[in-house]
Amino acid sequence: MSRNAGASEAPQPPTDESSERTPMSGPNTNYDPVEVAALDPAQIDAAVEQALAAAAAAGSLEELKAVRTAHQGEKSALALANREIAALPPSAKAEAGKRVGQARGRVAQAFAARQGELEVERDERILVEERVDVTVPALRRRPGARHPIELTAQRLVDAFVGMGWEVAEGPELESEWLNFDALNLGPDHPARQMQDTFFLDPVDSGLVLRTQTSPVQIRTMLDQEPPIYVVAPGKVFRTDDLDATHTPVFHQIECLAIDKGLTMAHLRGALDAFVRIMFGEETRTRVRANYFPFTEPSMETDFLCFACHGAETWGTAEQCRTCGGSGWIELGGSGMVNRKVLRTCGIDPDIYSGFAFGLGIERALMLRHGVQGMHDMVEGDLRFSQQFGMGA
Ligand code: DAH
Repeated sequence: MSRNAGASEAPQPPTDESSERTPMSGPNTNYDPVEVAALDPAQIDAAVEQALAAAAAAGSLEELKAVRTAHQGEKSALALANREIAALPPSAKAEAGKRVGQARGRVAQAFAARQGELEVERDERILVEERVDVTVPALRRRPGARHPIELTAQRLVDAFVGMGWEVAEGPELESEWLNFDALNLGPDHPARQMQDTFFLDPVDSGLVLRTQTSPVQIRTMLDQEPPIYVVAPGKVFRTDDLDATHTPVFHQIECLAIDKGLTMAHLRGALDAFVRIMFGEETRTRVRANYFPFTEPSMETDFLCFACHGAETWGTAEQCRTCGGSGWIELGGSGMVNRKVLRTCGIDPDIYSGFAFGLGIERALMLRHGVQGMHDMVEGDLRFSQQFGMGA
């Protein structure tokens, strides 16, 4: 209950007794004179003047908002005066109400008007400050591009995934045993000599940067039971200097199939399917004898040149630039997985057989897109990558 609640009671006519003591008392005997001060016309005018001055002085919408509470808020002099009206006797309410109401109206109007002015000023200022010269040549952001090596690897992987193979992975920092020994590359094999392999300090750490993706074959065979059909793309490292055809970091893709009854005919079939997807329906493969320690027999695979379709143009005026005129292009190494390698991985070579092949992704990219030099492929110049677009 407010402390002025008594004011709502009907004022009582003064008794004789009281009239003697307070001869000037009017009908508002129970009115608190301290509170009445809030309704004093001079005070109200002063409050209005202060409010108008504050509104006029506000130089920004923020400032206006800040001073508005003091003059229009619940604790402002005029709000206080407004509350005091309720405490007045009915006869005084109308006049006080009108006075306070008008005062508040003036203040509200002044603030609204100032707000309007400041908004116009702000909008004008923003229009100037945020003006944009649409004729300035734009800094165009070039769309990014996936690196063509990545795109080519993806295309190769997709070819196998489409045939139901799975993707396998291995680390770039590999154990010497997996990179060499388990693949039947004995300690005296030339590929183990220092000039080819990045060894890790100390030299007896047993770790190398893998020189081929073939260790992923071993990892997979140690991990999984046959049948195994995996494709493993990845980075490999050799201590070559960067030149037009060499780079110390390059990419290979490795394929391995282990199952009952796999023969070289299956290997040829897989190679044929693969090159058809990569280089077109008309191409086919041929194999030549070769040697890899981890396959027996081992082969080098060539495929029919997709540019001249096998025409023998060597030494003629129309010598094919893609294949050098032989009509065939070297794809990579392949063979039937060496029985010794199967045994190392705990697979019985009398029950299972398998084939494997590996090829260089940079080479496939050079062939497929006629990329001339290795530098373009390793320098990371976006203009090179963008020629191959974003698609797969
Ligand atoms: N790892 C061999 C290399 O880097 C390529 C290779 C040859 C992979 C024959 C194979 C294979 O899987 O069967 O030269």
